[in-house]
Amino acid sequence: MIDVKLDYALTHVSEQVFAEAWENVRKAHRRLLDDAQDSEAPLGWLELPERMQHELERIESVAQRLRECSDVIVIVGIGGSYLGAKAVIEAFQPYFDSTGPEVVFAGHHLSEDYLAELVDYLADKRFSINVISKSGTTTEPAIAFRVLRDLLERTHGSKAARRRIVTTTDREKGALRKLADAKGYDTFVVPDDVGGRYSVLSAVGLLPIAAAGFDIRSLTNGAGKTGKWLEKETEDNPALTYAAMRNALYESGKKVELFVHYEPKLRYLAEWWKQLFGESEGKEGKGLFVSSAAFTTDLHSLGQYIQEGERHLFETVLEVVRTHRALAVPEDPKDGDGLNYLAGQRLQEVNRQAAKATTLAHHDGGAPNIRLSIESLDGEHLGALLYFFEFSCAISGYVLGVDPFNQPGVEAYKQNMFALLGKPGFEALGEDIRKRLK
Ligand code: PA5
Repeated sequence: MIDVKLDYALTHVSEQVFAEAWENVRKAHRRLLDDAQDSEAPLGWLELPERMQHELERIESVAQRLRECSDVIVIVGIGGSYLGAKAVIEAFQPYFDSTGPEVVFAGHHLSEDYLAELVDYLADKRFSINVISKSGTTTEPAIAFRVLRDLLERTHGSKAARRRIVTTTDREKGALRKLADAKGYDTFVVPDDVGGRYSVLSAVGLLPIAAAGFDIRSLTNGAGKTGKWLEKETEDNPALTYAAMRNALYESGKKVELFVHYEPKLRYLAEWWKQLFGESEGKEGKGLFVSSAAFTTDLHSLGQYIQEGERHLFETVLEVVRTHRALAVPEDPKDGDGLNYLAGQRLQEVNRQAAKATTLAHHDGGAPNIRLSIESLDGEHLGALLYFFEFSCAISGYVLGVDPFNQPGVEAYKQNMFALLGKPGFEALGEDIRKRLK
């Protein structure tokens, strides 16, 4: 279901470095499967496709209830608590035609204008909220939820609001759990052994995706089949191949990985991918810096740098083989724009040739390319891709020698922010940093 090609990357690493990377990846793979036997390990995401089967019906029925009572469904969350859902919804949604309730996101930043405009937008609409926070204490979604809950209660009444709010949070910890219990909201649990950025195939991602009207069973099926495939330690295991190559490139001086796609609706898949790899690997002074580009659009902005700038980057290019729609360049008898050499060609073919041309040019210019492909943007393939990236990411983290499941570095800014905002318990830090602020 996922194909990995290394032809344009192998030429940039020595045979020895690649062989060592493969050996390390094999060891990391065995360790991952061993660790998975330990019920305390944060590896519950490996089993989500199976574990979630018994919850799918409830997720679908709550999603249906939200759809029936809403013009707009607001998903409140940040980081791993919204990126996976947003990535899948955008990938599935037609570009212009939208039927059913609109799905919008909030709580993923602190923009006052955004939230104020959202409040205006929702004021005369039927809306509902799915608030998602594993810790139940994250500031951005907590503020957005307070504002939107207040609006919902004022416009729909507290009883109706209760039926229109669904929480996804920890089994017992956190302020959101307490609030949900006190108010009697419908609640889904984020399992203890599943970290935020590995949670898209739990209720964290599946409820918003189902609420947007998309099939969640094909996603979990695709992921489940891929899981079985990736368990095998074979030469053609795509997760091992990808992890080995990106590690070999890192060891060969390529410190930046650019995730590239040719389909605008994959923009948020790239954002999800960046969080997954960036937060899992970037620690202890190590790790690839991950970024992304949407081609061919960004060939007209970043293309120059990729071709000729500092030679510290490589690209991971995702190709989607089949489109949903067909459109060819029309014939023009006068050929005023000189495009008749393309007349009758499908746009997908033009896009494909652009990708081939770009890969070769960037490779020749010193930017290696790892090429990934999936057949089409449907549930099975997308589920497979999400699982594949999570699996590769965990292995890559082990190879790098870091813990791919924690994110200690995210705390530093939070502590400072709490101190500056006067959160109780942060008084001493507040005094200290106010003196140091310029
Ligand atoms: O991957 C992670 O763990 C983080 O990105 C979290 O998802 C993010 O910080 C949001 O946390 P929470 O779900 O606790 O609000």
